Amino acid sequence: MNKIKDDIYWTGYIDWDLRIFHGYSTPSGSTYNSYLIVDEKPTLIDTVKDYGFEEMLCRIKEVIDPSKIKYIVSNHTEMDHSGSIGKLLEYCPDAEIVCSPKGEEHLKRHFLPASGRKGKKDWKFKVVNTGDELDIGKRKLRFLLMPMVHWPDSMSTYCVNDKILFSNDAFGQHYASDERYADEIDRGTIIAEAAKYYANIVLPYGAQVLKVLEAAAALEIELICTSHGLIWRKKQDIGLILRLYKKWASYESEEKVVIVYDTMWHSTENMAKRMFDSISKGGIPVKIFNLQKDHISDVVTEVLSSKFFLFGTSILNNRMLPTMASMLMYLKGLKPKNRYALSFGSYGWATVGFKEFETSIQEAGFELMGDGRYIRFVPDASDLDSLNDVVSIIKEKGIKQ
Ligand code: FEO
Repeated sequence: MNKIKDDIYWTGYIDWDLRIFHGYSTPSGSTYNSYLIVDEKPTLIDTVKDYGFEEMLCRIKEVIDPSKIKYIVSNHTEMDHSGSIGKLLEYCPDAEIVCSPKGEEHLKRHFLPASGRKGKKDWKFKVVNTGDELDIGKRKLRFLLMPMVHWPDSMSTYCVNDKILFSNDAFGQHYASDERYADEIDRGTIIAEAAKYYANIVLPYGAQVLKVLEAAAALEIELICTSHGLIWRKKQDIGLILRLYKKWASYESEEKVVIVYDTMWHSTENMAKRMFDSISKGGIPVKIFNLQKDHISDVVTEVLSSKFFLFGTSILNNRMLPTMASMLMYLKGLKPKNRYALSFGSYGWATVGFKEFETSIQEAGFELMGDGRYIRFVPDASDLDSLNDVVSIIKEKGIKQ
């Protein structure tokens, strides 16, 4: 049994095999966290993906007869959290689904089509708004809507008596583990996973996150029970993740450089490596990513802390390479702010593709620091030497901001 507090249990599903979560690489898998509060009106906070239902049901049965569940709080409709509601209702058909107004709309669109299967039309909804409280016996649950963190329907649930914030996707990590608490594993690992999660899921919604943090500041929080990964339990860890969310939502950055490239015949690669050496010798922290080897979701994670990006591509059929196009399109959706970029690459006989490349970098939210560095076919020694001034361009931009 996974007891979190007296009468409160983790009843989630560990997805050890998950490797991609709609485009985001998840080498450590994930969990879908569901929590059971045993009170006069037993309440389940969120469910799990449909294929995790049996595991969740077993965990519930270890604690109570699932027919006793009176409320299923659906903090968020995305199917990693709502995908088992229908199956669970077959065990507790009278349970009410507690959700935001948008949650009701979304759940109906997901699970109750006009041609809904027998029984599925009978879902009972209890719609709540920010500040509403639900009495479940000895405990009160208070709801906090958090629209666009990261869907319109998203909300969190605060257990007033136990001082637990059931935060749904916020503060989560895609991390499969037999441990349940963030302080049970290496801190660097879990913070890195939380950062990757924020960058790939939450990044576009900084303004909305700041509003949620403001509301959360008024709460006394002893546990943050996320819907993915590990629970934040230690006071210093709760403080740290709240501070990091504030920093990330404010689009703060450090004077660090990320070089990202793809290459056909090593010319763009050699340009990337020369700039890496120059920047490193210039005393500026720098990382380099090869899009043939590195996943775009790992590159995107660097956007959280790095201010400068050098994007490089060879030209193929008058276009940037498809890996670069894919990454820039992904970044465009994630809307980074206050970040600077320089483009570079090798071409054969026409530079027209670089125009589109530069436009894509700008559309992805980056301000260009200067003219792109483009070299015909194979860079010679003087071509490579000409790239050394990237250090002064970066330093000048860094000092100005
Ligand atoms: Fe974990 Fe937005 O679902």
